[in-house]
Order: sequence, then C-alpha cells, then structure tokens
Amino acid sequence: MAKELTFSIIKPNAIKKNVIGDIIHHFESNGLKVAACKMVRLSREKCELFYAEHRERPFFGELVNFMTSGPVVLMVLSGENAIQKNRDLMGATDPAKAAPGTIRAKYGDNVGENAVHGSDSPQSARREIALFFEPHEIVNLS
Ligand code: CMP
Repeated sequence: MAKELTFSIIKPNAIKKNVIGDIIHHFESNGLKVAACKMVRLSREKCELFYAEHRERPFFGELVNFMTSGPVVLMVLSGENAIQKNRDLMGATDPAKAAPGTIRAKYGDNVGENAVHGSDSPQSARREIALFFEPHEIVNLS
C-alpha cells in the first residue's frame, strides 16, 4: 500500500477539552505523520461549502453552528493507508457506538460534537485538503 494523504479536523469541543496534543499523539503513535497543520475559526461560508453533501440533512444548521462556534485544528495526515487508519483511530461517527480507546469514544460528546472529522475516501481527501491547504503548505514526508 502506497503512502496516502488524508484530511483531519479537531473540532471545537475537543479544542475546549485541551486535548489537541493527545489527539495528535494518537495519530503519531499509530503510523501517521502531520504533513500540514493550522488552527483557524471557520467562516460559515467555508463550513457550508465543506459540508455541502449534508446540506439537505436536518442536522445541517446545527452542524455548521457547532463547527463555527470556536477554533478548529485543520491537518493533513500522511502515511500508509492513511484514510482508513485515521477512520479506525477516530472510531464510529456516534461516540456512543465508537470502540473503546478510539478518539471519539474518549472525547466525543454526541453524534454532532464528535471531536474529530476524517476524510472517508480518496476523492473526499483530495477535495477537503484542496479546500484548506495550498500544495506548497503540505510537507513531503518520507
Ligand atoms: P463528520 O465526520 O464531521 O461528517 C459529517 C458530520 O455530521 C459528522 O461528522 C457528524 O458530526 C455530523 N452528523 C452526522 N449525523 C448526525 C446527526 N444525526 N445529528 C447531528 N450531527 C450529525
């Protein structure tokens, strides 16, 4: 399996819990490297664009309100099978269903405030990375 890039967000509820370091440690100690990283406050416009596929869902407004309620950490993670590895480390979308020890089981509050986001496919990863990072901002890690 070749090296892959994926996109990760540490969400506002996890930032409030002061666990940025622990979440990054989960990634780094499981074979993923941080290839780009920045802390920002998302605009509503950018957040709505990012979650455009959920626009018709009943929870869309709530999701955008939450994701723009405080700072987030945006990251590009690099590694073998990075997309699936990140999803395994995050656990199920609903923290109540996430396996013990996963990031969402540890720091998620509910299905909306679930601590982290990760790309679900190579196409999503490319789209999400391009929304937030210029190619020159991504370190080429060996
Ligand atoms: P995320 O990986 O960021 O991608 C879409 C997000 O929508 C998801 O995590 C959840 O936080 C959120 N979401 C999914 N289902 C629901 C739901 N039923 N109610 C509220 N938020 C949801």
